[in-house]
Formats: sequence, C-alpha cells, structure tokens
Amino acid sequence: MIPTLPARLYAGLLAMTAVLAVGCQMQTPALTAGCTVPRITSAYERLPPAQRPADVPARPSALPTPELSDAEAEAAGACVRPALLAAAAHSGDARLSGSEGWKRFSTVFYQSEHGLYIELTGNALAEGYLEFEDGPALPVGAVVLKRGFIARQSGEAIPDAQFTIEKMPAGYDPRVGDLKFTLIAGGTVIGESRGRNGDKVEFCVECHKSAWRQKFLFFIPPEYRPKN
Ligand code: HEC
Repeated sequence: MIPTLPARLYAGLLAMTAVLAVGCQMQTPALTAGCTVPRITSAYERLPPAQRPADVPARPSALPTPELSDAEAEAAGACVRPALLAAAAHSGDARLSGSEGWKRFSTVFYQSEHGLYIELTGNALAEGYLEFEDGPALPVGAVVLKRGFIARQSGEAIPDAQFTIEKMPAGYDPRVGDLKFTLIAGGTVIGESRGRNGDKVEFCVECHKSAWRQKFLFFIPPEYRPKN
C-alpha cells in the first residue's frame, strides 16, 4: 500500500519547487528537447490567446497539468529521453554513465504523484526493485532512477529533473534505510543526501521516511508494473 500523506506531500512539493527553480535557471539550451504532445498543442493553438490555460508556476506542483493518454505520454517521453540522457551525462554523475542501457522498471511513462510524467529504471544491482513491496531490500550499490518530463498546457514536453536513490553501506543514513537521495536538474547535481549540498535534498529524506513500511520506497502503481 502506498501511504497517503497530503500534508507531507504538499510540504515536499513546495520544497521541490524551490529547489528545482534553481536547477531550471542552470538549464543549458542543449538540454532542451523541442518535444510536444500534438493533440494538446493543436487544441491550445485553436484557442484565442486570452483563453489559453496558463502554467502558473510552470512546475510539477502546478497541477492540473494536461492529462495524457499512456500512448501520448510514451511518445513524448521517447522524444525527451535523449535530452534526459544528455543531462545525466552533463551532470558528471558517474553512476548514470551506463543508464541508457538500464532495464526499464515501469512499462511506460506515467503520471507521477508530483504531476510530472515519469519512467523508472535502475542499474543491474537494482533489478530486485521489480519485486516491488514483496522483494528484499536493495543491495549496496543499487541505483534506482526516476526521470521524465513536465507537460505544459501548450502541449510542450519539457525534460525535468532526475531523481536517484542509491543503497549505501550500513550506517550511511539510518533514518531512511541507508538510502542516498540525489537530485540532478539542468544537467547539474543539485545535492545528495548526507553528501555535497545535502541540505538541498533533505526534503527527499523527509518524505521517503514516511514509506518506512516498504523499505522507504514508493514503487510503481500496479497498472504500470510489467506483467510476468
Ligand atoms: C512529497 C513526497 C516526496 C518527496 C519530497 C520526494 N519523493 Fe521521491 N517519490 C515519492 C513518490 C510518491 C514516489 C512514487 C513515484 C511518483 O509518483 O513520483 C517517489 C519515487 C521516487 C523514486 C523511485 C523509487 C521509489 O519507488 O521510491 C526515486 C528514485 C525518488 N523518489 C527520489 C527522490 C529524490 C531524489 C527526492 C528529492 C529530490 C524525492 N524523491 C523527493 C515521494 C516523494
């Protein structure tokens, strides 16, 4: 069961918005993708400019965001993925250097609780993640990566920040099962918990702590898990 935590969720989203706003300013043009969802874009363009819905602020916490079908989310995600891989490479985070070859854990890009559209993947050590709530704890060195895009009211699909969780040796951070949280935005590592700029990502720890019943992870909704 995914715990429902409205208060934590909203506090966390506010913190995320503040941190990501910084990441966005650092975004370099080479890391943007020029992707759109055609149905949303044509509906938007048919409206007189004064009636077009606004993105205020244009961040994942600014729900509602356009509702995409699975096929639309998947197509937009495939379009932005190269920019996400470029941003991961640009960040210099060596753990992500092989991430284009990683196994995908979600069947498609789907809408996150934070409003953005995401896919989940991870390195070979993290493949036990596919057993979800029933699996064993991740082994040391396992890295789970969440990445995706924001759908704008105009239909643009904007590559978003990337989030990793890595299982660290015992004692790293007992508050949260020795998981390390890293935020990468605009091709830069913004912070890593209990590491460089750790204060910027403490909000990750605060929210994930609430998932203590399931190893501090939230997992993929059942409909987006691979069927065996
Ligand atoms: C307000 C609560 C909240 C905050 C804050 C938060 N997360 Fe999460 N996280 C979630 C939820 C809910 C999911 C499930 C996927 C989704 O809906 O986005 C998730 C999923 C993940 C996953 C996929 C692994 C899993 O199943 O848990 C990673 C990796 C992750 N978050 C990293 C981070 C990082 C890094 C930060 C800080 C930059 C962060 N999270 C902040 C709630 C939160």
